[in-house]
Amino acid sequence: MKVKTTYYCQNCGAQYSKWMGQCTACKQWNTIVEEVVSKKEAKTGVKPGQSKLIKLSDIDTESEYRIKTNNEELDRVLGGGIVPGSVILLGGEPGIGKSTLMLQVALHLPLNTLYISGEESPKQIKMRAQRIGTDAGQMQLLFETNVQKILHTLQHNKPGILIIDSIQTLHSDFIESSAGSISQIRESAGEIIKYAKQNHVPVFIIGHINKEGQIAGPKVLEHMVDTVLQFEGDRNHLFRILRAQKNRFGSTHEIGIFEMYNKGLREIKNPSKLLLSSNESGLSGTVIAVAMEGVRPLLIEVQALVSPAVYGTPQRTTTGYDIKRLHMILAVLEKRMGIKLSGKDVFLNITGGIRIDDPAIDLAVAAAILSSNNDSPVSAQWAFVGELGLTGEVRPVTRIEQRISEAEKLGFERIFISKHNKINPKNYKIAVNMIGEIKDLQHLV
Ligand code: TYD
Ligand code: MG
Repeated sequence: MKVKTTYYCQNCGAQYSKWMGQCTACKQWNTIVEEVVSKKEAKTGVKPGQSKLIKLSDIDTESEYRIKTNNEELDRVLGGGIVPGSVILLGGEPGIGKSTLMLQVALHLPLNTLYISGEESPKQIKMRAQRIGTDAGQMQLLFETNVQKILHTLQHNKPGILIIDSIQTLHSDFIESSAGSISQIRESAGEIIKYAKQNHVPVFIIGHINKEGQIAGPKVLEHMVDTVLQFEGDRNHLFRILRAQKNRFGSTHEIGIFEMYNKGLREIKNPSKLLLSSNESGLSGTVIAVAMEGVRPLLIEVQALVSPAVYGTPQRTTTGYDIKRLHMILAVLEKRMGIKLSGKDVFLNITGGIRIDDPAIDLAVAAAILSSNNDSPVSAQWAFVGELGLTGEVRPVTRIEQRISEAEKLGFERIFISKHNKINPKNYKIAVNMIGEIKDLQHLV
């Protein structure tokens, strides 16, 4: 029998017919490794008459019910619960809390749950469950990494839901390369997914992500599953954010927020004020914005530090914010307000370890940069909401009423919004400043 091998990039999963020093897909060096793909003889021939056609009109969508996990944050991110037969990939850095989240969910599920662990011993899992402080319920454990053995066990012990911790520890007999390699991940996941679809059993697959923030074997896995959840958050912060990167059964706008405490993960149901550092000291460069995460408003703090560049080329660094967007805002400030920023280092942070994609925080970013540059503090009682255009105009944003109400509810004195947002300031107790251009911030910050 001829042994078939292929070369895979261990970072991005790109496939090559020969070895190369650098992956042309992700540009990483020394990541291409030869893997033995198939031990068995190639399966040849297609058996006739095995596939069945279905009429679209015959498909019943009524029956698409969801299994509630009793974890509101997770249910919301999933789009209202688990769809039977769906495969959900939960990615995150090691130590972020993936196993904790899954164990917590498993302990509360009303179904016969099977937790397959290849990482921690049953004893360790039991200890964690005791820490979480829930009665073990109906959960069962399987300490196994061989996919064929797992599938064999599943035939005899039909679980209602399956949790795999983690995909990187599984190995299939059909593939010779070591556990955690791209072809193993692909094959093992493929077999598990096939089981899920054939038996209508939902599966959570935990996957560690590498330092570039990709799930190892990422492209391969993300395409194979129905939903990709990312569990993130700065490890030094207590908060963990769960977001859907892909969801065949719901939106990808919702996030779930959790706090890690000594008894596992606590759901944060009203997170709007959570990320504010209650900095009353009046330091320059700190500005509050009202962002939306899904349907929930979230008040966040933008911190900027602008200082003369000491080492030649000025640095621009962001945490939790798109660097390209920062470059754009800096260019707008230079061009439309005549502020010289090209010789300065600019650092920008969203506090709380959260990443914000909502363009409505542009105005706060601009205000924070101005505030730091002028060394003039902005009141912690003010909030900013608006998108910036290239001409320097402050553009309207979605869900403005909800954002204003949230700032009002939390006791802010004043909110700055675009004058193009059609609202009546008299309807609110909070003072609403409506501005048209970034220049209007000049005398304020
Ligand atoms: P874990 O779920 O093992 O992370 P992952 O599976 O993503 O690698 O969580 C690891 C961290 O969580 C660990 O550093 C300890 C911490 N932790 C708590 O703070 N409280 C708890 O109740 C539990 C179970 C874990
Ligand atoms: Mg783990």
